[in-house]
Amino acid sequence: MTSSRAYLSDLFSLDGRVAVVTGGSSGIGRAVAGALARAGAKTVLVARKRAELAAAAEELTADGCAAAWASGDLSTRTGVRAAAEEAAAVFGEPDILVNSAGINLRPPMGELGEDVWDTTMAVNLEAPFLLGQRFGPGMAERGFGRIIHITSQQAHRAFVQSGAYGVSKGALESLARSQAEAWSPYGVTCNTLVPGFVMTPLNARLSSDPERVAALAARTMTGRNGLAEDFAGAAVFLASRASAYVTGQSVHVDGGFSVH
Ligand SMILES: NC(=O)c1ccc[n+]([C@@H]2O[C@H](COP(=O)([O-])OP(=O)(O)OC[C@H]3O[C@@H](n4cnc5c(N)ncnc54)[C@H](OP(=O)(O)O)[C@@H]3O)[C@@H](O)[C@H]2O)c1
Repeated sequence: MTSSRAYLSDLFSLDGRVAVVTGGSSGIGRAVAGALARAGAKTVLVARKRAELAAAAEELTADGCAAAWASGDLSTRTGVRAAAEEAAAVFGEPDILVNSAGINLRPPMGELGEDVWDTTMAVNLEAPFLLGQRFGPGMAERGFGRIIHITSQQAHRAFVQSGAYGVSKGALESLARSQAEAWSPYGVTCNTLVPGFVMTPLNARLSSDPERVAALAARTMTGRNGLAEDFAGAAVFLASRASAYVTGQSVHVDGGFSVH
């Protein structure tokens, strides 16, 4: 009889895999990077701020994981290309790519200028596209790959001045489907994790208003807002062998927010 440990390991272990997680220094990306690394993947965190990257990677290394970081600005094409090369140079070409780096600038629609539009599209949409182009074909050639984007409920509905942000996340879900169509026949699945409201530095302003936080919690089915750690299990599942037949999907991790 197979032991439960061996069974679970066969389904979910990421031993021998290499992962690159953008936004891996903070919030959801940090929790996802931690989950993938603890599940066995050699994991490279990518973001701009070096001190935060080093702290996040050190926490994982201290826990016995293989973790490293590469600093890069994903708001420019040259920045994305440089970060991709630096990340791939650490443990080799990635089997798993998680795009969690994101920004949410919220000017009222009428005041939304081209600068906000351009930066939002560059970080939230173009960087995931370029990283997919850089790593996806190699994954397909090797016969295994996992691309996971972090989108938002704003991909599906307008919410708190969705502006350019909601547009970028809607397009990111379409990108996941295009990538899934292209590469799933070669063992590369492409999916999105869709958060509701998660208490992270991204929404510090909203998080500091107790009444709004309570009102948002009441809109979920579980009665609480999300925590970055809530994404660990779903991320390991989507990164593992277990999810081989799940592709082009948007997986909501939102306490039921989107269906309430
Ligand atoms: N929190 C929520 O309620 C929520 C809801 C829906 C969707 N999401 C999505 O979840 C993802 C993670 O959000 P979070 O809440 O975890 O945010 P967060 O804590 O603010 O983390 C954002 C990460 O992205 C990195 N980043 C931002 N701009 C970058 C750039 N130009 N180049 C490289 N890295 C950059 C940041 O590091 P540096 O600043 O050092 O670069 C940081 O590591 C985002 O895509 C967000 O849109 C969050």
